[in-house]
Amino acid sequence: MDVLRRVADARAFRASVPGSLGFVPTLGALHAGHGSLVERAVRERAAAIASLFVNPTQFGPGEDLAAYPRREAEDLAFLERLGCSAVFVPSVEEMYPPGDDTRVQPGAIAARLEGAARPGHLTGVATVVTKLFAVVRPDVAYFGQKDFQQLRVVQALAGDLRLGVRVVGCPTVRDEDGLALSSRNAYLSADERRAALALPRGLFAARADWERGERDPKRLADRVRQHAAALALEYVSVADPLTLAELTRAAERAVISLAARVGRARLIDNVLLGMDVSELV
Ligand code: PAF
Repeated sequence: MDVLRRVADARAFRASVPGSLGFVPTLGALHAGHGSLVERAVRERAAAIASLFVNPTQFGPGEDLAAYPRREAEDLAFLERLGCSAVFVPSVEEMYPPGDDTRVQPGAIAARLEGAARPGHLTGVATVVTKLFAVVRPDVAYFGQKDFQQLRVVQALAGDLRLGVRVVGCPTVRDEDGLALSSRNAYLSADERRAALALPRGLFAARADWERGERDPKRLADRVRQHAAALALEYVSVADPLTLAELTRAAERAVISLAARVGRARLIDNVLLGMDVSELV
């Protein structure tokens, strides 16, 4: 597996791949959720490349940029075992050289939910993903459903900016007890982790209500809130999965998403109603 630290090296790698290239961008601290994306890229494309980069522009003041887990050696070994052909591991200066101040501003889809709770976060994501796509020039990029709004922002920017990259959404990977895998789960104590199970349980209960015919977004959100009553929920949203506009009736397709603080971790999760993440392009 090639470990590429410079933009020029990543471009040379791309030029050496004759066939279709799959890309999995990450912040590192890899887990089985990332593993499922890399496995898919390896399986479906001629070559797969991942990136490890803790992107400073997507962390707001007071967020966990400094504390974010960094485990480069373990991540490289993990990616090599999965059959990744290359990994791009740039420094902050390589991605944001002195004088860099161009930013990619996502549209209305980024206004609510994470965009409102974390001002600037989705602009930082859109900016770094655009840069990574420009350097790596993949044919297909794989993103997890867990960061649902991020997935939709990246799908929109790839289409709107005509980047020529197909952005594929892949199902959330969960622990056996239902908790969505996240690098930030590492911040949870055993008690907090147990308490956090109320989040997937609430989402699954709301989805079961919807499957039994409940179409009122308020009642669906209330079901999540009942389960997570002991936690500090930031939001529960029942929205259109394409635009993320809040629904007045969850008639056909919807996404229920939430954010909550559990201890010092901020967790997000979601379930789709009436559709599968693979249907989003
Ligand atoms: O989801 C992530 O890991 C990050 O937001 C991403 C897409 C790699 C951009 O830094």
